[in-house]
Amino acid sequence: MKKGFKILAIESSCDETSCAIVVDGRTCLSNIVSSQIDIHTRFGGVVPEVASRNHVTAIDNVVKLALEKANCTLNDIDAVAVTYGAGLIGSLLVGVSYAKGLSYVTKKPLIAVNHIYGHIAGNYLSYPKLEPPFVCLIVSGGHTAIVKVEDYNNHIVIGNTLDDAVGECFDKVARVLGLGYPGGPKVSKLAESGNANIQFVKPNDTLGYNFSFSGKKTAVINYVHKLEQAGKPIPKEDICASFENWIVDELVEKTIKACKDSGYNKVVVAGGVSANRRLREELNKKANQNGILCFVPAMEYCTDNAAMIGSAAYYAYRDGEGVADMSLAPKPNLSLQDFKYYTK
Ligand code: KG4
Ligand code: ZN
Repeated sequence: MKKGFKILAIESSCDETSCAIVVDGRTCLSNIVSSQIDIHTRFGGVVPEVASRNHVTAIDNVVKLALEKANCTLNDIDAVAVTYGAGLIGSLLVGVSYAKGLSYVTKKPLIAVNHIYGHIAGNYLSYPKLEPPFVCLIVSGGHTAIVKVEDYNNHIVIGNTLDDAVGECFDKVARVLGLGYPGGPKVSKLAESGNANIQFVKPNDTLGYNFSFSGKKTAVINYVHKLEQAGKPIPKEDICASFENWIVDELVEKTIKACKDSGYNKVVVAGGVSANRRLREELNKKANQNGILCFVPAMEYCTDNAAMIGSAAYYAYRDGEGVADMSLAPKPNLSLQDFKYYTK
């Protein structure tokens, strides 16, 4: 592969319209993210139809800005990459259609990327020398998993959630406390001034590397409802701190165990919840205590962005994976287990 391979990447799987120019999978020349948070806040969560309409309005400008900021024209681009799953069907469709159009007119290859592969690659941008193998904790709005990343395109899922994703659980707790959307950062902020003195329930954990969050979510919701029914004040800060500790302790404990059991000396975090301050601090602390190197993505690569898609696309293309054509269609339920890149 030639040096200085430039990928124009597009991400539109949920409520962020993003375009980035990434060189050789490691250097980000531009990463424009147009967020719809203000729009969806009014509804208390992402409204799929509203999201796709706003992607349509934003995408052209976002791509132009990304090229401009990278000081590039379409002629300088070697390939076009796009997230084709998992995500909201209407949102994905906007990015996929736009990317197909660009690939068609420029006659440049089209690379289809699994969104979660992208989140992992956010770490390659944050740490230019980071290389597999490592154990990766994936924590986003749609996924929670522990994965052995044996090589850039060889991932083995060793733990998964049996029900809700961890980000979803943060969002639901925020909603019951009336904190608004997106909930994760708001719960985390309140937790800073609370005491983690509430024990909601402590079931015996027989899940191994797997997770279950729906019971935890319900435990917090029931706790809040009982106080409301009794007309008692709701200690929001303490609830947030106790909930956050509960979740983070489990994530960290299982990830460190997976790393030790696998004999790997590197642990990596990926996905929106990797922005959580307590998770970053605790994982780093426990990794250090166990002689494991800990990598958490730079804040700009934690939540959804196109640069991470450009990085994942580079390694896919280099290894002959992910090359798509005009028949590419979004896959809203693209599975985490199905870590293979796009095949027709
Ligand atoms: O990866 P992401 O941007 O989108 C998906 O691919 O799903 O993750 C979004 C999730 C949301 O649930 C959001 O509440 C959560 O990440 N999140 C956080 C924090 N920042 C974002 N959760 C906890 N603490 C945070 N600081
Ligand atoms: Zn994401």
